[in-house]
Amino acid sequence: MTATDAVLGAPVERREGREKVTGTARYAAEFDAPGRAQAWPVPATVPRGRVTGVDTAPALALPGVLAVLTHENAPRLGAPDDPTLAVLQGPHVPHRGWFVGVVVAETLEAARAGAAAVRITYEAEPHDVVLTASHPEAYVPESANGGFPAVTGYGDPDGALASSAARVDVAYTVPPLHNHPMEPHASTAQWDGDRLTVHCSSQGTSAVQKELARLFDLPEDRITVHAEHVGGGFGSKGTPRPEVVLAAMAARETGRRVTVALPRRYLPAVVGHRAPTLHRLRLGADSGGRLTALVHEVTTYTSRVKEFVEQAAVPARVMYGTPALRTSHRVAALDVPTPSWMRAPGECPGMYALESAMDELAAELGVDPVELRIRNEPETEPDSGRPFSSRNVVACLREGARRFGWEGRDPRPRSRSEGSVLIGSGVASATYPVLVSPCVASARAVPDGGFLVRVNATDIGTGARTVLAQIAADALGAPLDRVRIDVADSGIGFAPMAGGSSGTASWGSAVHEACTRLAGRLAEHSGPLPDEGISAEADTSGKADAESPYARHAFGAHFAEVSVDTVSGEVRVTRLLGVFAAGRILNARTARSQFIGGMTMGLGMALTEDSTMDPVFGDFVERDLASYHVPAHADVGDVEAHWVDETDDHLNPMGSKGIGEIGIVGSAAAVGNAVHHATGIRFRELPLTPDRVL
Ligand code: MOS
Repeated sequence: MTATDAVLGAPVERREGREKVTGTARYAAEFDAPGRAQAWPVPATVPRGRVTGVDTAPALALPGVLAVLTHENAPRLGAPDDPTLAVLQGPHVPHRGWFVGVVVAETLEAARAGAAAVRITYEAEPHDVVLTASHPEAYVPESANGGFPAVTGYGDPDGALASSAARVDVAYTVPPLHNHPMEPHASTAQWDGDRLTVHCSSQGTSAVQKELARLFDLPEDRITVHAEHVGGGFGSKGTPRPEVVLAAMAARETGRRVTVALPRRYLPAVVGHRAPTLHRLRLGADSGGRLTALVHEVTTYTSRVKEFVEQAAVPARVMYGTPALRTSHRVAALDVPTPSWMRAPGECPGMYALESAMDELAAELGVDPVELRIRNEPETEPDSGRPFSSRNVVACLREGARRFGWEGRDPRPRSRSEGSVLIGSGVASATYPVLVSPCVASARAVPDGGFLVRVNATDIGTGARTVLAQIAADALGAPLDRVRIDVADSGIGFAPMAGGSSGTASWGSAVHEACTRLAGRLAEHSGPLPDEGISAEADTSGKADAESPYARHAFGAHFAEVSVDTVSGEVRVTRLLGVFAAGRILNARTARSQFIGGMTMGLGMALTEDSTMDPVFGDFVERDLASYHVPAHADVGDVEAHWVDETDDHLNPMGSKGIGEIGIVGSAAAVGNAVHHATGIRFRELPLTPDRVL
């Protein structure tokens, strides 16, 4: 084994781990400096309407309050790419919680008191926030999130369904869900003349830089955005959020460094959420358990500010071989907060529905649910006809079944109990696409024998900087401890965000190329290095986004065991076991954390996570971690993640697929299928809270 074999894939500890656990890692709201002011936003209190009057005098009279900005006096901004960022630009209130003002003060307490003292009057307009499958305003969008066509299909699904030996026709509901990262969104902004420096809790500094340039009409190189440490995002920090605009505006108006740290209860309305999805699944099969038709129809909502369509029918285009397929999305624009990305948008709710329906079909046919999936493996990607670059879902199912002890399971529902507790097990498959975007990186060898690698990656808690250092050390043929790495600074150059499970592939491809080039230069160089060292750059634009002739996806399989208390209605997940096929695993430690983190988030989706839209007030009821319950340690039993060896030469120089999102895909379906096995009852609306189960 060579030194480089050892570095790529090794379970290396996070480089910033010590800083984080000792509290010395600084987050966006913690970039203090003398004269730093704090700002607190004012959210709209009507579900829809317009601001008719603003009285800032009571706020300005409070000690420590420096300024109050509303649409009446805030600077006019350029048009952003994302209309949710056009804050304080007019009196219109598109939804409750939309920011209509911001108060800047010497302290956080004074800013909060000031925000409470601002008097705003509104003219309310009628609002509609309730999604129904037959909403009269629902339409077929041009495309869904990710640029996917809204409707695809082939064959004659209706005819095939009518003549199928077995069929299921079922509806599933996934409620609105919120990302709720540990660190709420925050930004600190400071102007020096016409230069703007921002510390932002973001999944990608380049996107923040671009939007601020549009909004403040500045060349991008006058704006520097840092995001050195980010306390999670799960998609909600994938694009800039209004707090960074308010911070930059407030800093410019007051001439101070200004921090806007959003309180958690403001997040649900302004940082995106997973839109609710209403699914209708129709599956037909012949008596041998082979699909004859698959129809997945999704209805969802978006806001009136911006169209975002959760692409939940997309995984049905990938998963199973069928002679007839139809997938479709409809969306209604309502007076709701704007939905956005949440971990595995599309695949997560889509696979919940599809994998639950497959379980129903297995029961209908009397075929083991693992076996049913294996029987319906497609030869090529069903929707596109492209060959898969690699597809090891069967290996994941078999390996998972072996590790879980699936064999010997009594398939009959309600066949296991301990006193008043019913026990069951379930399975579901997982898939997530392989994505990659252009990026720049540089690498320099310095005379002391070390290397400095620079790439504008963001490490949102995943271990990205550690894995990128491993990729660099591997390409350089250098020991890992000689590689320094700078990340999360827009000044380094363009980089895509930490999202779409594509960060490591995108940043890593550029790092690999810069380091390979540098290694070549060093091989040609003789004698000591010059003082400034020797460096090399890479820019993967133009090749990273080239269309592949292959269908490239990661796959996986989840197995869950649950206990259902028939007295309290409480469901506990006692075991969760996932096996994934995601190309080469680059860091066994951080990869495992990503997988079990995703699986645990799926457990929350299955059992407790639920954002309820209040039809009268037009806002989400759960706005804190007490009412929006994400899994705590006590909720999580035995969680295991494994992977199968997978070599795929059609990916990137590292041979890796993304791993950030696939863990949440299918996890909730495995839990739901286990609850059906335990109880004999099919619950088709998440989450499986005791009030539903009893
Ligand atoms: Mo992830 S939802 O692509 O940040």
